[in-house]
Amino acid sequence: MENDKNIMAIILAAGKGTRMKSAMPKVLHEIFNKPLVGWVLDCVESISDIKDSIVVLGHGADSVDKYLNSRDKKVLTVIQEQQLGTGHAVAQTLPLLSGFSGEVLIVCGDTPLITSKTLDEFINYHRTNNSDLTVMTTCFDNPFGYGRIVRDSQDRVIEIVEQKDATELQKQIKEVNTGIYLLNWSKISSAFSQLKNSNAQNEYYLTDIVKWANDNKYKVSGYVAQDNTEIYGINSRSNLAAATKIMKDRKLESLMENGVTIVDVSSTFVSPDTEIAEDTIIYPNTYIEGKNKISKNCKIGPMARLRGGCFVGEGCKIGNFVELKNAKIADKTNVCHLSYVGDAIIGSNVNVGAGTIFANYNSITKEKKQSVLSDGVSIGSNSVIVAPVELGKNAFVGALSCVTKNADNDSLVICRAPQREVKNWVKNKKENN
Ligand code: UD1
Ligand code: CA
Repeated sequence: MENDKNIMAIILAAGKGTRMKSAMPKVLHEIFNKPLVGWVLDCVESISDIKDSIVVLGHGADSVDKYLNSRDKKVLTVIQEQQLGTGHAVAQTLPLLSGFSGEVLIVCGDTPLITSKTLDEFINYHRTNNSDLTVMTTCFDNPFGYGRIVRDSQDRVIEIVEQKDATELQKQIKEVNTGIYLLNWSKISSAFSQLKNSNAQNEYYLTDIVKWANDNKYKVSGYVAQDNTEIYGINSRSNLAAATKIMKDRKLESLMENGVTIVDVSSTFVSPDTEIAEDTIIYPNTYIEGKNKISKNCKIGPMARLRGGCFVGEGCKIGNFVELKNAKIADKTNVCHLSYVGDAIIGSNVNVGAGTIFANYNSITKEKKQSVLSDGVSIGSNSVIVAPVELGKNAFVGALSCVTKNADNDSLVICRAPQREVKNWVKNKKENN
């Protein structure tokens, strides 16, 4: 490699996704609150050699673009006005890539399960084989719908034939095209001006670059991905549910390998972006989305929900029907039942009583504010902490308090109507009737 960042990535995301039956473009459908195209981009961007990514937009370009702009890492975009095929989609990037002489990685925006480990191996395979074009393939017992990989007697990849164009014999082939390619741009880029649409779908097929490269005596290779779930493409709501399950099962498996107890794998959801340390126990029906960090020896759930931006220190209990969002919680703190903690910084050895709500949102100003609870604070049950509020060390809040002001270390805060007792009230009522 002449330089470190030699690869431009192209993400195909112009398709409509007709089978989703949705007003929203397919690649914006979400798994764990992150659009499909976001998963693909996160994976691609984690590869060290990637210089930049180009996303090909078409259907719902405005809304996809809006999402892309909301991400930390910026990408380049091109618009494919009419969706004339995958080859035509890549052709739209030609102006942006003119003069580029490195490698181009092409992936689809609707395959959220791809991993950077596999992409890394794929890239290495291309380089060690001195290939000009490498196609990632995989095998399916039921390959229906995928492009088939046609190899010759010496196992060389000759061409890719789409389902609709395949002969009966070719339909028997179980090795399929994953839609992921690596190409040496200076050699293969001229293929895109020569693609034809004389096929069953009258589309400009990206897959035809394989035959073109062979005809032009360039070196073509096929890298076989062992785990075919990685290239699982989303075409329907049912695929989306299946992909969510694969993604969370993978995550739970790796957590268990690293010493986390998952009491019930089937009812537990943990986003891949969440880290959990050893000897923490996740009880059933827990749903954890977004980026969070949970330290060791915690008990989470049953029926807890973490919505992202949370840090949970060592030995904490986050119990049933507790929701956390943007909450930083230090060691040995308990939020055990029926509480909402949003936009809060909470010290160690804090007890948040049952039914406590952090009122972090002002629906008129649309602002969210943060509250801070120092070490040792105790909040009585059914209290409301109206942000922004800061409570000093060991401050003690009586049950049912509505806390709107800061309090010092060691203070008692109590904010509720004093208890009244009317003697013989019931007896008098009865006698008067
Ligand atoms: C494609 C491959 C097929 C492969 C399969 C893997 C072709 C001709 N076929 O088929 O060999 O087995 O992927 O999943 O490439 N897109 C655009 N613009 C277009 C058309 C498509 O951006 O004009 C995008 C789609 O949004 C999608 C991706 O390209 O992200 C793949 O398109 P899709 O129509 O799903 O291709 P397949 O028929 O699945
Ligand atoms: Ca597809």
